[in-house]
Amino acid sequence: MAEARVYATRPLPGGGFRRLAEQTRLAVWRGHAAPPRKTLEAELREAEGLLCLLTDPVDADLIASAPRLRVISSCSVGLDHVDLVAATARGIPVGHTPGVLAETTADLTLALMLAAARRLAEADRFVRSGAWKEWDPELLLGRDLHGSTVGLIGLGDIGQAVARRLVGFECRILGWTPSGRRVSGIEPVELDALLAAADFVSLHVALAPETRHLLDAGRLARMKPGAVLVNAARGGLVDETALAARLASGALSAAGLDVFEDEPPDPESPLLGLDNVVLTPHLGSASVRTRIRMADLAVENLLAGLAGRPLPACANPEARAGSAR
Ligand code: GLV
Repeated sequence: MAEARVYATRPLPGGGFRRLAEQTRLAVWRGHAAPPRKTLEAELREAEGLLCLLTDPVDADLIASAPRLRVISSCSVGLDHVDLVAATARGIPVGHTPGVLAETTADLTLALMLAAARRLAEADRFVRSGAWKEWDPELLLGRDLHGSTVGLIGLGDIGQAVARRLVGFECRILGWTPSGRRVSGIEPVELDALLAAADFVSLHVALAPETRHLLDAGRLARMKPGAVLVNAARGGLVDETALAARLASGALSAAGLDVFEDEPPDPESPLLGLDNVVLTPHLGSASVRTRIRMADLAVENLLAGLAGRPLPACANPEARAGSAR
């Protein structure tokens, strides 16, 4: 394995990455943004392992142009940037980092719910601008999270971690998931019923062709008047133009968004001009400890793949059967 050539699209924090450098022939892209496509293609002509991020599109053409590639490991839970079908067809296992980031992402989700409902970003701007003159009983009134009805779309590790926190806020918790999974303490409902009943709606499903624009103009229009939408999953789950219109009209009272259809969003995006939106730059898993855990798991996945062992967290375990053929 010491001879195995690995390409990492960014240096990662923690001991795992240092171990990878000792155990393989590691080349690392050290630019600030993702490596250009041509660089990635050139590196993958030789690489047996790829360690990538959610900002690196690993599509079918790239996989086809990587003749020696034996494992792809993404330091992310989401894999909408990797063509899993193409990787599986080539017998290449794809690793990701579920579990280790669930609690940290749930923390950010709660932060966005509270910040959006209690207008924290707007209030911060208000104080900084010098507009605050005196205490006022009507100033910047928001909505309560405690005691509200929250609808969770997606009940995987992150959705469940959010639900555990909401118990402390004495919320009624409704849940809908494409798989129909049931989780104790969460009332299963149809998606439209969830949208109609929830004061807060929070997204926790993966982005896939079936979930793109899951909240389209029609579904956004079915949300309870004055509800708050939170998205710390993937921007593509929501039709942003339709969302901006609902927020501008006051049909929805606020949104907390950590993810966008394009990242960073177009400076002309109508969302950026709305006071009732709290925006963060895709920070769901961004704590020091969690990013190290993710990096360590991504490295474990990569090393396992290079050694021909099952990956600790593999999104396409069926790929091994393909590679054995
Ligand atoms: C973050 O969005 C991730 O997929 O890890």
